[in-house]
Amino acid sequence: MNTTHHHLIAPSMLAADFAHIQRDVDLVNQSEADWFHIDIMDGLFVPNISFGFPVMKAIHRYATKPLDVHLMIEKPDRYLEEFKEAGAAHITVHYEACTHLHRTIWAIKELDCLAGVALNPHTPVHLLKDILPDLDMVCLMSVNPGFGGQKFIENTYAKIRELRSLSKGVNDQLLIQIDGGVSLDNAAALIAAGANVLVAGSFVFNSANPTQTIHSLKSVDPHLKIV
Ligand code: DX5
Ligand code: ZN
Repeated sequence: MNTTHHHLIAPSMLAADFAHIQRDVDLVNQSEADWFHIDIMDGLFVPNISFGFPVMKAIHRYATKPLDVHLMIEKPDRYLEEFKEAGAAHITVHYEACTHLHRTIWAIKELDCLAGVALNPHTPVHLLKDILPDLDMVCLMSVNPGFGGQKFIENTYAKIRELRSLSKGVNDQLLIQIDGGVSLDNAAALIAAGANVLVAGSFVFNSANPTQTIHSLKSVDPHLKIV
């Protein structure tokens, strides 16, 4: 294990080839990736439908790394237990989809899953102030959720810095995950700003050599200044 890398890489299986799902799961298993990012969309919270339990269970059958499940669905409380049964190690719900977020977060923790909250690009991080001590992870959406392959929103850097200072002394273990438009163009700057989990879908799976791309993302050193 290389201990110089403190950030985690979570390839998004949304960009995998569903006709060769076992092949792409194996690719991630054998790579330096840390988690499988699993995007669940219901066609209501976001204007797209991705996949559900049967596909997730198929991924889980072969995956040797944790499934990091990102629920882009309305009223996620209805399905938390089923996601746990389908193999979720982490469950992230959207702030914008939860009326009783504190209850939802604790329901996730009761299932022995890591609990995360995702924020849409327009949702300010200060809204998390009172729930911050209860969270394992905050996922900052750096695109509007619903589709892979979109353009990274630059305001994300300011949100990372604000969230890092907000969580200081309150939740120093907090994972800050960035989801959407992540590539080698922005990975170092995101980590330097305070992010420690990078999700990457199209950048990994549309590259010529996904294993090498995961390695490059994992090897990013935010302290290395190119002059
Ligand atoms: C967007 C999803 C993302 C997406 C990222 O709604 O939550 O996880 O798969 O894809 P890329 O990396 O292609 O922007
Ligand atoms: Zn996602």
